[in-house]
Amino acid sequence: MPTYEKILLKNMEQPGYTGSLSDYRKTGGYMALEKVLKGIAPAEVIDTIKRSGLRGRGGAGFPTGVKWSFIPKDHPGPKYLCCNADESEPGTFKDRQLIENDPHQMLEGITIACYAIGAQTAYVYIRGEFFLGAKIIQGAIDELYQAQLLGKKILGSNFNLDIYVHRGAGAYICGEETALLESIEGKRGKPRTKPPFPATHGLYQKPTVVNNVETLSNVPHIINRGPEWFAAIGTAKSTGTRIFSVSGPVNRPGNYEVPLGITFREMIEEHAGGMKEGKRLKAIIPGGASASFFTSEHLDVKMDFESVAAAGSMLGSGGVTVMDDETCMVAATLNLLEFFHHESCGKCTPCREGSAWLLQILRRIEGGEGRREDLAQLEQLSHRIEGMTICAFGDAEVAPILSTLKHFRAEYEAHIDEKHCPFRPNLALAMAVP
Ligand SMILES: Cc1cc2nc3c(=O)[nH]c(=O)nc-3n(C[C@H](O)[C@H](O)[C@H](O)COP(=O)(O)O)c2cc1C
Repeated sequence: MPTYEKILLKNMEQPGYTGSLSDYRKTGGYMALEKVLKGIAPAEVIDTIKRSGLRGRGGAGFPTGVKWSFIPKDHPGPKYLCCNADESEPGTFKDRQLIENDPHQMLEGITIACYAIGAQTAYVYIRGEFFLGAKIIQGAIDELYQAQLLGKKILGSNFNLDIYVHRGAGAYICGEETALLESIEGKRGKPRTKPPFPATHGLYQKPTVVNNVETLSNVPHIINRGPEWFAAIGTAKSTGTRIFSVSGPVNRPGNYEVPLGITFREMIEEHAGGMKEGKRLKAIIPGGASASFFTSEHLDVKMDFESVAAAGSMLGSGGVTVMDDETCMVAATLNLLEFFHHESCGKCTPCREGSAWLLQILRRIEGGEGRREDLAQLEQLSHRIEGMTICAFGDAEVAPILSTLKHFRAEYEAHIDEKHCPFRPNLALAMAVP
Protein backbone atom coordinates (compact mmCIF):
# COMPACT_ATOMS: atom_id res chain seq x y z
CA MET A 1 0.00 0.00 0.00
CA PRO A 2 1.40 3.45 -0.88
CA THR A 3 2.31 5.51 2.17
CA TYR A 4 2.37 9.28 2.30
CA GLU A 5 3.70 11.85 4.70
CA LYS A 6 0.92 13.06 6.94
CA ILE A 7 0.65 16.70 7.89
CA LEU A 8 -2.47 17.04 10.01
CA LEU A 9 -2.76 13.60 11.60
CA LYS A 10 0.98 13.26 12.21
CA ASN A 11 1.22 14.51 15.79
CA MET A 12 -1.74 12.57 17.10
CA GLU A 13 -0.35 9.32 15.72
CA GLN A 14 2.81 9.64 17.87
CA PRO A 15 2.65 7.30 20.87
CA GLY A 16 1.67 9.18 24.05
CA TYR A 17 0.70 12.41 22.27
CA THR A 18 -2.09 14.04 24.26
CA GLY A 19 -2.80 17.22 22.29
CA SER A 20 -1.86 19.36 25.31
CA LEU A 21 -0.07 22.66 24.82
CA SER A 22 3.22 21.22 26.07
CA ASP A 23 2.99 18.20 23.75
CA TYR A 24 2.07 20.41 20.80
CA ARG A 25 4.98 22.75 21.51
CA LYS A 26 7.38 19.79 21.59
CA THR A 27 6.44 19.11 17.95
CA GLY A 28 7.26 22.71 16.99
CA GLY A 29 3.82 24.06 17.84
CA TYR A 30 3.37 27.85 17.92
CA MET A 31 6.72 28.34 16.15
CA ALA A 32 4.79 29.46 13.07
CA LEU A 33 2.90 32.02 15.16
CA GLU A 34 6.16 33.27 16.63
CA LYS A 35 7.71 33.51 13.17
CA VAL A 36 4.73 35.50 11.90
CA LEU A 37 4.49 37.87 14.87
CA LYS A 38 8.22 38.55 14.89
CA GLY A 39 8.71 39.42 11.27
CA ILE A 40 6.04 38.69 8.67
CA ALA A 41 3.61 41.45 7.73
CA PRO A 42 -0.09 40.47 7.53
CA ALA A 43 -0.18 41.02 3.75
CA GLU A 44 2.80 38.71 3.39
CA VAL A 45 1.05 35.98 5.40
CA ILE A 46 -1.95 36.25 3.06
CA ASP A 47 0.38 36.08 0.07
CA THR A 48 2.06 32.96 1.49
CA ILE A 49 -1.30 31.21 1.91
CA LYS A 50 -2.27 32.26 -1.63
CA ARG A 51 0.95 30.85 -3.05
CA SER A 52 0.46 27.56 -1.23
CA GLY A 53 -2.74 27.02 -3.22
CA LEU A 54 -4.61 25.99 -0.03
CA ARG A 55 -8.33 25.64 -0.76
CA GLY A 56 -11.15 25.41 1.75
CA ARG A 57 -11.79 21.97 3.18
CA GLY A 58 -15.36 22.80 4.28
CA GLY A 59 -17.06 21.99 1.00
CA ALA A 60 -16.70 24.55 -1.76
CA GLY A 61 -12.91 24.48 -2.11
CA PHE A 62 -12.55 28.26 -2.28
CA PRO A 63 -8.88 29.49 -2.24
CA THR A 64 -8.14 30.43 1.37
CA GLY A 65 -5.61 33.22 0.78
CA VAL A 66 -7.94 34.86 -1.74
CA LYS A 67 -10.78 34.76 0.81
CA TRP A 68 -8.56 36.43 3.41
CA SER A 69 -7.51 39.11 0.91
CA PHE A 70 -11.17 40.19 0.50
CA ILE A 71 -11.21 41.54 4.07
CA PRO A 72 -10.93 45.35 3.80
CA LYS A 73 -7.59 46.43 5.22
CA ASP A 74 -8.64 49.94 6.19
CA HIS A 75 -11.85 48.93 7.98
CA PRO A 76 -11.87 50.96 11.22
CA GLY A 77 -14.03 48.72 13.44
CA PRO A 78 -13.88 45.08 14.50
CA LYS A 79 -13.27 42.19 12.11
CA TYR A 80 -13.94 38.57 12.92
CA LEU A 81 -12.83 35.07 12.12
CA CYS A 82 -15.20 32.14 12.61
CA CYS A 83 -13.83 28.64 12.56
CA ASN A 84 -16.49 26.34 11.17
CA ALA A 85 -16.47 23.25 13.41
CA ASP A 86 -20.07 22.35 12.71
CA GLU A 87 -19.18 19.18 10.76
CA SER A 88 -22.79 18.30 10.11
CA GLU A 89 -22.43 16.70 6.68
CA PRO A 90 -23.44 13.03 6.99
CA GLY A 91 -20.51 10.69 6.44
CA THR A 92 -17.91 13.27 7.49
CA PHE A 93 -15.95 12.91 10.71
CA LYS A 94 -12.49 14.38 10.11
CA ASP A 95 -12.85 17.73 11.91
CA ARG A 96 -13.90 15.86 15.02
CA GLN A 97 -10.65 13.90 14.98
CA LEU A 98 -8.60 17.08 14.54
CA ILE A 99 -10.48 18.86 17.33
CA GLU A 100 -10.36 16.04 19.85
CA ASN A 101 -6.75 15.01 19.27
CA ASP A 102 -4.81 18.10 18.20
CA PRO A 103 -6.83 21.23 19.06
CA HIS A 104 -3.76 23.50 19.17
CA GLN A 105 -2.98 22.88 15.51
CA MET A 106 -6.38 24.42 14.66
CA LEU A 107 -6.00 27.18 17.29
CA GLU A 108 -2.58 28.17 15.97
CA GLY A 109 -4.10 28.34 12.49
CA ILE A 110 -6.92 30.54 13.80
CA THR A 111 -4.44 32.86 15.52
CA ILE A 112 -2.30 33.27 12.40
CA ALA A 113 -5.40 33.83 10.25
CA CYS A 114 -6.63 36.53 12.64
CA TYR A 115 -3.26 38.25 12.53
CA ALA A 116 -3.34 38.15 8.72
CA ILE A 117 -6.80 39.70 8.40
CA GLY A 118 -6.52 42.04 11.39
CA ALA A 119 -9.16 40.37 13.59
CA GLN A 120 -8.96 40.54 17.38
CA THR A 121 -11.88 38.22 18.07
CA ALA A 122 -12.46 34.69 16.80
CA TYR A 123 -15.22 32.17 17.38
CA VAL A 124 -15.07 28.42 17.08
CA TYR A 125 -18.61 27.47 16.10
CA ILE A 126 -18.85 23.84 17.13
CA ARG A 127 -21.60 21.35 16.40
CA GLY A 128 -23.86 21.00 19.45
CA GLU A 129 -23.41 17.24 19.68
CA PHE A 130 -19.62 17.58 20.01
CA PHE A 131 -19.65 17.85 23.82
CA LEU A 132 -16.18 16.39 24.17
CA GLY A 133 -14.76 18.54 21.38
CA ALA A 134 -16.15 21.74 22.91
CA LYS A 135 -14.63 20.83 26.28
CA ILE A 136 -11.27 20.02 24.71
CA ILE A 137 -11.12 23.27 22.72
CA GLN A 138 -12.09 25.31 25.79
CA GLY A 139 -9.36 23.54 27.77
CA ALA A 140 -6.83 24.32 25.04
CA ILE A 141 -7.92 27.99 24.95
CA ASP A 142 -7.51 28.20 28.74
CA GLU A 143 -3.97 26.83 28.39
CA LEU A 144 -3.20 29.51 25.80
CA TYR A 145 -4.37 32.36 28.05
CA GLN A 146 -2.22 30.99 30.86
CA ALA A 147 0.80 30.81 28.56
CA GLN A 148 0.05 34.34 27.26
CA LEU A 149 -0.42 32.99 23.78
CA LEU A 150 -3.89 34.53 23.76
CA GLY A 151 -5.15 37.83 25.13
CA LYS A 152 -3.21 41.08 25.00
CA LYS A 153 0.22 41.56 23.39
CA ILE A 154 0.73 37.97 22.34
CA LEU A 155 4.41 36.93 22.51
CA GLY A 156 5.33 40.56 23.26
CA SER A 157 3.89 41.84 19.97
CA ASN A 158 1.12 44.39 19.48
CA PHE A 159 -1.29 41.66 18.44
CA ASN A 160 -4.30 40.97 20.69
CA LEU A 161 -6.71 38.10 20.25
CA ASP A 162 -9.59 36.47 22.14
CA ILE A 163 -11.08 33.15 21.02
CA TYR A 164 -14.54 32.00 22.13
CA VAL A 165 -16.20 28.61 21.76
CA HIS A 166 -19.78 28.90 20.53
CA ARG A 167 -21.80 25.69 20.65
CA GLY A 168 -24.49 25.08 18.05
CA ALA A 169 -27.78 23.42 18.81
CA GLY A 170 -27.54 20.58 16.32
CA ALA A 171 -28.85 22.01 13.04
CA TYR A 172 -27.23 20.95 9.76
CA ILE A 173 -27.92 24.31 8.16
CA CYS A 174 -25.77 26.10 10.75
CA GLY A 175 -22.73 24.71 8.95
CA GLU A 176 -23.61 27.00 6.05
CA GLU A 177 -21.48 30.05 6.66
CA THR A 178 -24.15 32.76 6.78
CA ALA A 179 -26.55 30.63 8.86
CA LEU A 180 -23.59 30.08 11.18
CA LEU A 181 -23.17 33.84 11.54
CA GLU A 182 -26.89 34.28 12.29
CA SER A 183 -26.63 31.55 14.89
CA ILE A 184 -23.66 33.20 16.65
CA GLU A 185 -25.68 36.42 16.69
CA GLY A 186 -28.36 34.57 18.63
CA LYS A 187 -30.86 34.31 15.78
CA ARG A 188 -32.35 31.24 14.15
CA GLY A 189 -29.79 29.64 11.86
CA LYS A 190 -31.05 30.64 8.42
CA PRO A 191 -28.81 31.59 5.48
CA ARG A 192 -28.49 35.19 4.37
CA THR A 193 -28.76 36.29 0.76
CA LYS A 194 -25.39 37.07 -0.80
CA PRO A 195 -24.18 39.66 -1.75
CA PRO A 196 -23.19 41.27 0.50
CA PHE A 197 -20.64 38.60 1.36
CA PRO A 198 -19.27 37.93 4.84
CA ALA A 199 -15.93 39.46 3.81
CA THR A 200 -17.56 42.89 4.09
CA HIS A 201 -20.85 42.24 5.96
CA GLY A 202 -20.34 39.18 8.12
CA LEU A 203 -20.74 38.72 11.85
CA TYR A 204 -22.59 41.74 13.28
CA GLN A 205 -22.30 43.16 9.73
CA LYS A 206 -18.52 43.44 10.12
CA PRO A 207 -15.82 41.98 7.83
CA THR A 208 -15.59 38.26 8.60
CA VAL A 209 -13.78 35.17 7.40
CA VAL A 210 -15.37 31.75 7.86
CA ASN A 211 -12.99 28.82 7.48
CA ASN A 212 -13.23 25.12 8.16
CA VAL A 213 -11.25 23.35 10.93
CA GLU A 214 -9.10 21.36 8.50
CA THR A 215 -8.39 24.44 6.36
CA LEU A 216 -7.11 26.39 9.36
CA SER A 217 -5.14 23.42 10.71
CA ASN A 218 -2.99 23.51 7.56
CA VAL A 219 -1.93 27.12 8.10
CA PRO A 220 0.89 26.67 10.68
CA HIS A 221 2.51 24.00 8.50
CA ILE A 222 2.47 26.25 5.45
CA ILE A 223 4.12 29.04 7.43
CA ASN A 224 6.75 26.67 8.87
CA ARG A 225 7.60 24.75 5.72
CA GLY A 226 6.82 27.31 3.04
CA PRO A 227 4.15 27.64 0.35
CA GLU A 228 6.25 25.86 -2.30
CA TRP A 229 6.49 22.74 -0.13
CA PHE A 230 2.69 22.66 0.26
CA ALA A 231 2.03 23.43 -3.40
CA ALA A 232 4.22 20.50 -4.43
CA ILE A 233 1.86 18.06 -2.67
CA GLY A 234 -1.28 16.94 -4.50
CA THR A 235 -2.12 18.25 -7.97
CA ALA A 236 -1.48 21.61 -9.61
CA LYS A 237 -4.87 23.05 -8.66
CA SER A 238 -5.70 20.92 -5.61
CA THR A 239 -2.66 21.26 -3.39
CA GLY A 240 -1.81 19.62 -0.10
CA THR A 241 -3.32 16.64 1.60
CA ARG A 242 -6.94 16.01 2.44
CA ILE A 243 -8.45 13.93 5.20
CA PHE A 244 -11.11 11.65 3.73
CA SER A 245 -13.63 9.99 6.03
CA VAL A 246 -14.39 6.55 4.60
CA SER A 247 -17.47 4.69 5.82
CA GLY A 248 -19.56 1.72 4.67
CA PRO A 249 -18.82 -2.00 4.19
CA VAL A 250 -15.05 -1.67 3.81
CA ASN A 251 -12.54 -3.52 5.97
CA ARG A 252 -10.98 -0.43 7.54
CA PRO A 253 -13.42 2.48 7.69
CA GLY A 254 -11.87 5.64 9.11
CA ASN A 255 -10.09 8.90 8.35
CA TYR A 256 -7.25 8.81 5.85
CA GLU A 257 -4.96 11.73 5.12
CA VAL A 258 -3.54 11.45 1.61
CA PRO A 259 -2.30 13.87 -1.06
CA LEU A 260 -5.16 15.22 -3.16
CA GLY A 261 -5.33 13.39 -6.47
CA ILE A 262 -5.08 9.70 -5.55
CA THR A 263 -7.87 7.59 -7.05
CA PHE A 264 -11.03 6.35 -5.33
CA ARG A 265 -9.75 2.87 -6.15
CA GLU A 266 -6.57 3.41 -4.17
CA MET A 267 -8.50 4.93 -1.28
CA ILE A 268 -11.06 2.12 -1.07
CA GLU A 269 -8.98 -0.89 -2.06
CA GLU A 270 -5.71 0.04 -0.37
CA HIS A 271 -6.18 2.49 2.48
CA ALA A 272 -9.64 1.35 3.57
CA GLY A 273 -8.68 -2.30 3.08
CA GLY A 274 -11.14 -3.12 0.29
CA MET A 275 -14.71 -4.31 0.49
CA LYS A 276 -15.68 -6.68 3.29
CA GLU A 277 -15.64 -10.33 2.31
CA GLY A 278 -18.48 -11.22 -0.03
CA LYS A 279 -19.46 -7.60 -0.71
CA ARG A 280 -19.25 -5.90 -4.10
CA LEU A 281 -18.99 -2.16 -4.49
CA LYS A 282 -22.10 -0.64 -6.01
CA ALA A 283 -22.06 3.08 -5.27
CA ILE A 284 -19.90 5.77 -3.70
CA ILE A 285 -20.91 9.13 -2.32
CA PRO A 286 -17.64 10.96 -2.98
CA GLY A 287 -17.92 14.09 -0.84
CA GLY A 288 -20.58 13.98 1.86
CA ALA A 289 -24.35 13.58 1.56
CA SER A 290 -24.65 16.66 -0.69
CA ALA A 291 -22.53 15.12 -3.45
CA SER A 292 -23.92 13.24 -6.45
CA PHE A 293 -23.45 9.47 -6.37
CA PHE A 294 -20.68 7.70 -8.23
CA THR A 295 -20.71 4.02 -9.23
CA SER A 296 -18.02 1.34 -9.55
CA GLU A 297 -17.32 2.90 -12.97
CA HIS A 298 -15.85 5.91 -11.19
CA LEU A 299 -13.20 4.08 -9.18
CA ASP A 300 -10.39 5.52 -11.27
CA VAL A 301 -11.52 9.12 -10.87
CA LYS A 302 -8.90 11.16 -9.02
CA MET A 303 -9.79 12.58 -5.62
CA ASP A 304 -9.13 16.24 -6.33
CA PHE A 305 -11.54 19.15 -6.77
CA GLU A 306 -11.33 19.31 -10.58
CA SER A 307 -11.42 15.61 -11.39
CA VAL A 308 -14.43 14.89 -9.19
CA ALA A 309 -16.29 17.91 -10.61
CA ALA A 310 -15.44 16.86 -14.17
CA ALA A 311 -16.89 13.41 -13.42
CA GLY A 312 -20.17 15.00 -12.30
CA SER A 313 -19.95 15.27 -8.54
CA MET A 314 -17.97 17.20 -5.93
CA LEU A 315 -15.24 16.55 -3.41
CA GLY A 316 -17.32 18.48 -0.88
CA SER A 317 -16.66 17.68 2.74
CA GLY A 318 -14.41 14.67 2.04
CA GLY A 319 -16.92 12.15 3.38
CA VAL A 320 -16.66 9.01 1.22
CA THR A 321 -19.58 6.65 1.80
CA VAL A 322 -19.26 3.26 0.15
CA MET A 323 -22.34 1.13 -0.59
CA ASP A 324 -22.46 -2.54 -1.57
CA ASP A 325 -24.66 -4.53 -3.92
CA GLU A 326 -27.12 -5.35 -1.16
CA THR A 327 -28.00 -1.66 -0.83
CA CYS A 328 -31.28 -0.52 -2.31
CA MET A 329 -30.48 2.78 -4.05
CA VAL A 330 -34.05 4.02 -3.70
CA ALA A 331 -33.90 3.34 0.04
CA ALA A 332 -30.50 5.04 0.26
CA THR A 333 -31.87 8.10 -1.54
CA LEU A 334 -34.98 8.08 0.62
CA ASN A 335 -32.80 7.94 3.72
CA LEU A 336 -30.90 11.03 2.55
CA LEU A 337 -34.12 12.85 1.72
CA GLU A 338 -35.53 12.12 5.18
CA PHE A 339 -32.45 13.91 6.49
CA PHE A 340 -32.63 16.86 4.11
CA HIS A 341 -36.35 17.36 4.63
CA HIS A 342 -35.89 17.33 8.38
CA GLU A 343 -32.99 19.80 8.18
CA SER A 344 -34.44 22.25 5.63
CA CYS A 345 -34.50 25.56 7.51
CA GLY A 346 -37.69 26.59 5.70
CA LYS A 347 -36.53 29.99 4.50
CA CYS A 348 -36.76 29.23 0.76
CA THR A 349 -40.04 27.86 -0.57
CA PRO A 350 -38.55 25.50 -3.19
CA CYS A 351 -36.46 23.75 -0.54
CA ARG A 352 -39.08 23.79 2.23
CA GLU A 353 -42.01 22.61 0.13
CA GLY A 354 -40.04 20.72 -2.51
CA SER A 355 -38.28 18.48 -0.01
CA ALA A 356 -41.64 17.37 1.37
CA TRP A 357 -42.94 16.52 -2.12
CA LEU A 358 -39.75 14.69 -3.06
CA LEU A 359 -39.90 12.73 0.16
CA GLN A 360 -43.51 11.79 -0.40
CA ILE A 361 -42.80 10.45 -3.90
CA LEU A 362 -39.72 8.55 -2.74
CA ARG A 363 -41.62 6.95 0.13
CA ARG A 364 -44.32 5.94 -2.33
CA ILE A 365 -41.82 4.29 -4.69
CA GLU A 366 -39.87 2.53 -1.94
CA GLY A 367 -43.14 1.35 -0.37
CA GLY A 368 -44.26 -0.27 -3.64
CA GLU A 369 -46.91 2.28 -4.51
CA GLY A 370 -44.96 4.24 -7.11
CA ARG A 371 -46.12 5.10 -10.60
CA ARG A 372 -44.04 5.34 -13.77
CA GLU A 373 -44.74 9.10 -14.05
CA ASP A 374 -43.20 9.58 -10.60
CA LEU A 375 -39.72 9.42 -12.12
CA ALA A 376 -40.33 12.39 -14.43
CA GLN A 377 -41.98 14.17 -11.53
CA LEU A 378 -38.92 13.62 -9.31
CA GLU A 379 -36.70 15.06 -12.04
CA GLN A 380 -38.92 18.06 -12.70
CA LEU A 381 -39.25 18.90 -9.03
CA SER A 382 -35.51 18.53 -8.50
CA HIS A 383 -34.77 20.94 -11.34
CA ARG A 384 -37.14 23.47 -9.80
CA ILE A 385 -35.16 23.38 -6.56
CA GLU A 386 -31.64 23.21 -8.02
CA GLY A 387 -30.11 26.69 -8.15
CA MET A 388 -33.35 28.28 -6.87
CA THR A 389 -32.46 28.62 -3.19
CA ILE A 390 -30.45 31.14 -1.19
CA CYS A 391 -27.84 28.58 -0.13
CA ALA A 392 -26.50 25.38 -1.64
CA PHE A 393 -28.80 23.22 0.53
CA GLY A 394 -31.31 23.04 -2.34
CA ASP A 395 -28.68 21.68 -4.72
CA ALA A 396 -27.54 19.25 -2.04
CA GLU A 397 -30.95 17.71 -1.49
CA VAL A 398 -31.56 16.99 -5.16
CA ALA A 399 -28.06 15.65 -5.91
CA PRO A 400 -28.78 12.12 -4.60
CA ILE A 401 -32.08 11.97 -6.47
CA LEU A 402 -30.80 13.15 -9.84
CA SER A 403 -27.66 11.01 -9.65
CA THR A 404 -29.43 7.80 -8.61
CA LEU A 405 -32.03 8.37 -11.32
CA LYS A 406 -29.16 8.66 -13.76
CA HIS A 407 -27.09 5.69 -12.61
CA PHE A 408 -29.69 3.36 -11.07
CA ARG A 409 -32.90 4.14 -12.95
CA ALA A 410 -33.65 0.44 -13.50
CA GLU A 411 -33.86 0.02 -9.74
CA TYR A 412 -36.54 2.71 -9.46
CA GLU A 413 -38.43 1.06 -12.32
CA ALA A 414 -38.21 -2.36 -10.66
CA HIS A 415 -39.78 -0.92 -7.48
CA ILE A 416 -42.64 0.49 -9.51
CA ASP A 417 -43.20 -2.51 -11.78
CA GLU A 418 -42.86 -5.17 -9.06
CA LYS A 419 -44.84 -3.04 -6.58
CA HIS A 420 -42.36 -3.63 -3.80
CA CYS A 421 -38.74 -2.97 -2.94
CA PRO A 422 -36.68 -5.78 -4.56
CA PHE A 423 -34.33 -5.65 -1.59
CA ARG A 424 -36.96 -5.50 1.17
CA PRO A 425 -40.14 -7.08 -0.25
CA ASN A 426 -41.99 -7.09 3.07
CA LEU A 427 -41.33 -3.46 3.84
CA ALA A 428 -44.19 -1.44 5.31
CA LEU A 429 -43.54 2.31 5.14
CA ALA A 430 -45.37 5.16 6.80
CA MET A 431 -46.34 7.29 3.82
CA ALA A 432 -47.34 10.48 5.59
CA VAL A 433 -44.77 13.27 5.50
CA PRO A 434 -44.86 15.52 8.56
C1 LIG B 1 -26.01 23.26 3.93
C2 LIG B 1 -24.55 23.51 4.12
C3 LIG B 1 -23.90 22.96 5.22
C4 LIG B 1 -22.53 23.20 5.41
N1 LIG B 1 -21.92 22.62 6.49
C5 LIG B 1 -20.60 22.85 6.70
C6 LIG B 1 -19.94 22.28 7.83
O1 LIG B 1 -20.55 21.54 8.63
N2 LIG B 1 -18.63 22.56 8.00
C7 LIG B 1 -17.92 23.37 7.13
O2 LIG B 1 -16.75 23.62 7.35
N3 LIG B 1 -18.53 23.93 6.05
C8 LIG B 1 -19.84 23.69 5.83
N4 LIG B 1 -20.44 24.28 4.76
C9 LIG B 1 -19.65 25.19 3.89
C10 LIG B 1 -19.62 26.61 4.49
O3 LIG B 1 -20.74 27.34 4.03
C11 LIG B 1 -18.36 27.38 4.08
O4 LIG B 1 -18.23 27.31 2.69
C12 LIG B 1 -17.07 26.86 4.71
O5 LIG B 1 -17.17 26.81 6.11
C13 LIG B 1 -15.95 27.78 4.34
O6 LIG B 1 -14.73 27.30 4.86
P1 LIG B 1 -13.53 26.87 3.91
O7 LIG B 1 -13.33 27.98 2.91
O8 LIG B 1 -12.38 26.72 4.83
O9 LIG B 1 -13.95 25.59 3.25
C14 LIG B 1 -21.81 24.03 4.51
C15 LIG B 1 -22.47 24.58 3.40
C16 LIG B 1 -23.83 24.32 3.20
C17 LIG B 1 -24.50 24.92 2.00
